[in-house]
Amino acid sequence: MTAYLVKGVSVLGAAPTDLLIRDGVVAEVGADLTAPGATVVDAAGLVALPGLVDLHTHLREPGREDAETVESGSRAAALGGYTAVCAMANTSPVADTAGVVEQVWRLGREAGLVDVQPIGAVTVGLAGQHLAELGAMADSAARVRIFSDDGHCVADPRLMRRALEYVKAFDGIIAQHAEEPRLTEGAQMHEGEVSTRLGLTGWPAVAEEAIIARDVLLAEHVGSRLHVCHVSTAGSVEVLRQAKARGVRVTAEVTPHHLLLTDVRAETYDPVYKVNPPLRTDADVAALRAALTDGVIDIIATDHAPHAVEDKECEWAYARPGMLGLETALSIALDVLGPRWDLIAERMSRTPARIAGLDGHGVDPAPGAPANLTLVDPAARRTVDPAELASRSRNTPYAGMTLPGRIVATFLRGEPTVLDGKATK
Ligand code: DOR
Ligand code: ZN
Repeated sequence: MTAYLVKGVSVLGAAPTDLLIRDGVVAEVGADLTAPGATVVDAAGLVALPGLVDLHTHLREPGREDAETVESGSRAAALGGYTAVCAMANTSPVADTAGVVEQVWRLGREAGLVDVQPIGAVTVGLAGQHLAELGAMADSAARVRIFSDDGHCVADPRLMRRALEYVKAFDGIIAQHAEEPRLTEGAQMHEGEVSTRLGLTGWPAVAEEAIIARDVLLAEHVGSRLHVCHVSTAGSVEVLRQAKARGVRVTAEVTPHHLLLTDVRAETYDPVYKVNPPLRTDADVAALRAALTDGVIDIIATDHAPHAVEDKECEWAYARPGMLGLETALSIALDVLGPRWDLIAERMSRTPARIAGLDGHGVDPAPGAPANLTLVDPAARRTVDPAELASRSRNTPYAGMTLPGRIVATFLRGEPTVLDGKATK
């Protein structure tokens, strides 16, 4: 195993130091380290962060390998500074059995670029009728702890209650895609002034807020852990704030796109801006940013949602919802939060690792820590070119935008998955 001597790096914004990475761990931290035989990485001007952890990634395998594979999505993740991703269950077949989650887990190990932790479906086939084999998935080699029907809401309150009760036995989590389906029938974008003007059917904020309100009450009643996916409205933030103040075991995520973009993008009719939940208003963006800073929203999760060209380059109404996220998330976070490295580490690495129970991830670079880390050049600016992305899909909403920050290197258990801004395999 090669050792790596990272010279002159700023750990989370502190004064420059050297890091020796050997045998999968950060072996030493200090000034003027020497290590004969080690590969030297010149990290002057770079910031070291614990490897990023994404709680919400769509890898599309099995079933839509034309849009993404476990390997291509893992490569995109590593290039984005990630060392672990949680793979959503809305594959084809759905990840609702021990067999499918083990397949995804094994493909992740074979790719070896990030740790891929499968999420299991809550209901069979995501159909919202019958609970999936939660226990069998938890006991499988993939050791599933997070369950989600993401893409669909677990709308039936009795089923949601039973799911919360079931996972309590192994401290599991239900991650809810909060969308009251009766309030979003035919919806194409956020319901508001812009949807009225464009004549598109709206997706009202209350469709999200009503489910979150119901689910925090159910989680409180049962005493289980609830995670709310892609929170997108100011009203949702207030529901979560009250629930947390009461001590409900609830965590919440926001996506990079909901922190940056608004529903006015729909005026272009470019389906690259179609996403679920939809882009909201300036007031929602402001509330989400404030909640991310004050901790009502716990983490940034990408909801990386690759889609093939034919599913995106078509009429708005026929396009699939979703956007790429893994290769741009850190840049958006830097843009939104500024160089607040401790906050970025908290929201993008430590807390998601803790929620998902991913041992060895979310640990700051320090002597003895597992060498899962990423090196960022905060001074670099990059113009996003969809053709340069490692994802198999091209549906980034940031094409042509110039964003701060560049991932220079990522290490997974002491081995570089990215060096000089390029994937090592
Ligand atoms: O925009 C979205 N895309 N929202 C979801 O909930 C699912 C995702 C997908 O799988 O494409
Ligand atoms: Zn979702």
